[in-house]
Order: sequence, then structure tokens, then C-alpha cells
Amino acid sequence: MGKSTNITWHELSLSKEARRKQNGHQSFVLWFTGLSGSGKSTVANAVAQKLFETGIRNYVLDGDNIRHGLNKDLGFSDEDRTENIRRIGEVSKLFVDSGQVVLTAFISPFIADRELVRNLLEKEEFIEVFVNCPLEECEKRDPKGLYDKARKGLIPDFTGIHSPYEEPLSPEIVVNTSESSVEECVEQIIQYLSVRNAI
Ligand code: ADX
Repeated sequence: MGKSTNITWHELSLSKEARRKQNGHQSFVLWFTGLSGSGKSTVANAVAQKLFETGIRNYVLDGDNIRHGLNKDLGFSDEDRTENIRRIGEVSKLFVDSGQVVLTAFISPFIADRELVRNLLEKEEFIEVFVNCPLEECEKRDPKGLYDKARKGLIPDFTGIHSPYEEPLSPEIVVNTSESSVEECVEQIIQYLSVRNAI
């Protein structure tokens, strides 16, 4: 139960449908999930670029960036990760309501949290993209040097080391970044969206 009382919902005068119509495309969430270093941000940004070039209004929400602002009060305990994802889910819903495509790049390690976001949206508005990459490969890449620090005990609760990552059970899309190039992953996602008439 929320803390706010005495508040009423105002219907917006412009509907989601009207905004979609003006933009000339659907609005939905591409929810990238995967280990740190799996390539979520890289692939999400490359897809965003491609969508942008074809006139599809979009925005990328990225864990490392959002944690500098909106979610800078949150750490990496299970509770804080859940709250991180809940807020991003709500923000994503606003983007969808504004008629845009939103691409989110968060580890989002818990199935229940991702399902909560899925349930905030209409069925066709949530597209889960599992950025699949073995832990050993992420650790080898270690683009931010965090796995090394985590192994040395300098970062507590690091995902994959001392904090779990729950793989999606039935994601709409799986990209394997250890086997496919960024371009191939982008192509796979764009192809999926075209077939579904989402773009
Ligand atoms: S989530 O688990 O709550 O979804 P989020 O995607 O926002 O995580 O942030 C993950 C990023 O924070 C990682 O890519 C990494 O750069 C940084 N980070 C710092 N500490 C941790 C940690 N303990 N576990 C995972 N990522 C961490």
C-alpha cells in the first residue's frame, strides 16, 4: 500500500493511441536483462541507433546512468534491486504512454521483478530480451574491472559472484553475445520487431 492519500487520477486529454498515431509507430518496452558485462547497453544503444535512423522515437534507460540520478539512493541489496526495477518499470510505462519505444538495460536479476514490470504493461508492450553470455566470458571481458574487484572481496553482492542472476524462463528474444556480433544481435532484434509488426 502506497503512502500517498487524498490523490485522484487525472485522465490525460491526449491518449496513448493519439500519440502513437502522430509518431507513426507502436510504443513498447524492449527490456534487456543479463549479467554485468554481457552487452546489454551496447546492444540496446545499437538498436536505439537503428530505430532512430528509421524515425522511431526512442530512449535508452541504462542502469549505470539511472543510478547516478533517479536511483542514486539505491544500492545492490535484493530489496534495493527490486525497488530499482520497480521504478524503471513505472518510468518505462510513462514512456510507452508517451508513444515512444523505451529500451532498458538493467541486470534485473530477479524473475519476479521483471514479471512485475511485464504486468504493469499491456501484453504486446513488454518484450524481454535475454542478453545471454556465460559468466566466464563476462568475467573475461570485465570492461569495468568490477569482476576482478568482486573476486578480491572489494564489492559485496556482485551479481554472478555472490548475488544470484535468474535467467528468463520464456523471454521473447535471446541474443547470444559470446557467439554473435553486435550487428547480428541488432539484426535479430529488428527482425523480431518487424515480424511482429511492432515497427
Ligand atoms: S540491478 O541488479 O539493480 O538491475 P543495475 O543494472 O541497475 O543492477 O546496475 C548494474 C551496474 O552497476 C553494473 O553494470 C555495474 O557497473 C554496477 N555495479 C556496482 N556494484 C554492483 C553489484 N554489486 N552487482 C552488480 N552490479 C554492480
